[in-house]
Amino acid sequence: MLRQPHANTVVGRAHWDWRRISLRGCAVPVSLLLFVVAVRAGQDQQQPAGYAGSETCATCHEDITKAFDKNRHAALETSKTRGWATRACESCHGPGAKHAESASAGDIRQPAKLAVKDSEKICLGCHLNQPTQMGRLTSGHARNAVACVACHNVHATGEERSSVMFRKAAGINRKCGSCHTDVWASFQKPHHHKLPEGAMSCIDCHNPHGSNQAHLLKTAFGPQSGCFRCHTDKRGPFTFEHVVVRTEGCSACHEPHGSANPRMLTRAQVSNQCLECHSNIQSPSSSGLVGGPPTAFHDLRSARYRNCTICHQKIHGSHVSRALLR
Ligand code: HEC
Ligand code: HEC
Ligand code: HEC
Ligand code: HEC
Ligand code: HEC
Ligand code: HEC
Ligand code: HEC
Ligand code: HEC
Ligand code: HEC
Ligand code: HEC
Repeated sequence: MLRQPHANTVVGRAHWDWRRISLRGCAVPVSLLLFVVAVRAGQDQQQPAGYAGSETCATCHEDITKAFDKNRHAALETSKTRGWATRACESCHGPGAKHAESASAGDIRQPAKLAVKDSEKICLGCHLNQPTQMGRLTSGHARNAVACVACHNVHATGEERSSVMFRKAAGINRKCGSCHTDVWASFQKPHHHKLPEGAMSCIDCHNPHGSNQAHLLKTAFGPQSGCFRCHTDKRGPFTFEHVVVRTEGCSACHEPHGSANPRMLTRAQVSNQCLECHSNIQSPSSSGLVGGPPTAFHDLRSARYRNCTICHQKIHGSHVSRALLR
């Protein structure tokens, strides 16, 4: 057996075995060239006009072909229904017969060298509207500023490959953080979701493929309802809601990417956070809502009263207390 030991354990693996052919052909080194020509001629007969077939590519691009065996796209090489059997390489690179003759870069399509919309078109030719959990591929990463291949390194191997193709949180974070350096810096602040520790990733909250929410946030209803996926106790509905939680969402008070303040609050002092909206000199919140000032018995000069959440414990909403006390 020439395949790697674990070859049979992976579903959807291509089983065309170019190495066997090449070993047979290379018994006498001098015959290599003849062999290449022979294989190419054989391929030409089976392939549609302009196509060379993957075995022909393999003769010159040995490392890439070998690694491709572990690529999910290798399914194209064997599938009888997807239309690319024996010529999977050319599903992305286009007809390659001319390049296989000339070996010139000018004669072959390299998706990563194309304009974003052109390279995307190649990928979306197969991935458009796929029922993946990511959905909405067409709205693009921030309206087509970033190509599929900026995140998905098709031929990558080892460490680099694990970044997006294999969905490890740490690898995904590294990939996203390599462009969004300011966001990644926020996650280094003392209070943060555990992204630097590799326990969560950007795509727990964002859909990199697009979304009908601002900032590519996941899920479809209410501001930042994606947070409820994990913080279910904050979801409600509450008999007595703190209306800003619903209208403005969590980032009215929290910094989701991390903060120097405990509980990832936007303010170091909780009372300042509250008094931003609950004071006589109110600045209206972004939805135009203002909270009423605390009733007169609140003596805001006393330290006791400045610690608002000591008493207002159900700050996200309450089932029993109108004043969000319990
Ligand atoms: C006869 C040898 C040979 C064959 C057969 C061959 N290639 Fe190449 N290929 C080359 C060489 C040499 C280069 C590097 C050219 C350069 O850098 O100028 C290259 C470069 C490429 C590139 C990079 C182009 C770029 O713009 O950087 C791609 C993609 C490619 N080949 C794909 C294929 C595919 C797909 C096939 C099969 C259809 C194939 N090759 C068959 C020799 C070959
Ligand atoms: C799913 C699409 C896809 C398939 C299938 C595919 N490639 Fe590629 N190929 C790419 C992309 C995208 C790049 C640009 C670099 C990258 O993303 O890795 C590339 C780059 C290359 C390069 C240039 C590498 C370099 O270092 O410049 C070669 C050569 C190549 N591919 C050969 C092949 C061969 C041979 C096959 C079949 C075994 C194949 N490709 C199958 C998408 C594909
Ligand atoms: C000819 C059709 C075709 C084209 C073109 C194509 N893909 Fe795919 N892609 C597939 C198939 C088939 C699979 C495997 C899906 C499966 O097993 O269900 C796949 C899987 C993937 C996966 C999942 C990999 C994993 O490990 O889960 C990613 C990511 C991907 N493709 C990205 C791309 C990108 C980026 C491009 C453009 C450079 C591209 N594809 C072009 C058919 C295609
Ligand atoms: C900003 C980075 C980024 C861009 C741009 C991007 N993707 Fe992805 N893609 C990801 C990440 C991260 C995942 C892993 C999702 C997961 O594991 O839930 C993924 C997953 C996938 C999958 C596998 C989905 C699944 O659920 O199995 C496919 C297919 C895919 N992307 C195709 C594409 C195509 C096609 C494009 C271009 C139109 C594209 N991606 C653009 C980051 C990106
Ligand atoms: C190749 C660089 C690059 C990579 C990699 C990348 N991004 Fe982006 N991202 C951009 C660019 C460029 C924009 C559009 C400009 C902007 O808003 O900053 C953008 C926009 C965004 C936005 C929307 C910002 C807004 O206010 O609408 C989010 C959210 C985002 N990226 C998250 C991610 C996530 C999550 C990942 C990893 C899966 C990722 N990005 C990977 C370059 C990148
Ligand atoms: C806990 C959920 C969560 C995680 C994890 C997360 N984000 Fe965000 N992100 C958000 C929310 C919520 C917003 C909108 C903030 C607002 O409304 O002001 C946002 C906004 C953004 C924006 C646009 C505004 C800005 O701050 O630049 C970018 C870009 C972004 N995120 C990238 C990332 C990247 C990259 C990662 C991973 C390193 C990441 N996010 C991880 C929740 C998250
Ligand atoms: C994938 C699950 C997940 C999602 C989605 C998520 N969180 Fe969290 N969040 C956690 C976990 C786990 C912790 C506890 C982390 C820890 O103790 O380090 C946490 C902790 C917090 C804390 C308390 C931090 C502290 O210092 O005590 C706040 C505030 C918070 N999350 C807000 C949000 C907001 C706002 C969003 C949406 C933008 C969100 N979370 C989305 C999992 C999630
Ligand atoms: C009006 C401001 C405000 C809004 C809006 C808000 N929070 Fe909070 N949140 C706080 C305060 C203040 C604390 C600290 C409570 C304390 O000191 O005990 C807190 C604490 C937390 C904690 C950690 C303690 C706990 O109760 O689990 C989590 C998690 C959290 N918030 C998640 C969320 C989520 C998710 C949203 C959006 C649905 C949200 N918050 C919206 C003010 C707010
Ligand atoms: C972004 C603005 C905003 C912030 C920050 C905010 N609130 Fe509110 N709060 C409101 C609005 C708007 C209402 C509903 C209007 C009203 O009834 O006064 C409300 C209602 C309340 C109520 C219920 C009043 C009632 O009679 O229904 C209490 C108690 C309360 N807030 C306490 C707090 C505390 C404590 C904090 C700080 C942890 C805080 N709020 C932070 C805007 C805010
Ligand atoms: C010692 C406990 C305690 C502390 C500390 C406290 N409150 Fe209160 N607060 C109450 C109680 C009790 C009520 C309910 C009064 C009532 O039902 O008439 C209340 C009511 C409120 C109301 C609702 C007023 C209305 O219109 O019904 C607001 C707003 C409020 N507090 C804000 C704050 C803010 C902001 C802070 C921090 C600066 C704070 N509270 C600190 C006990 C406290």
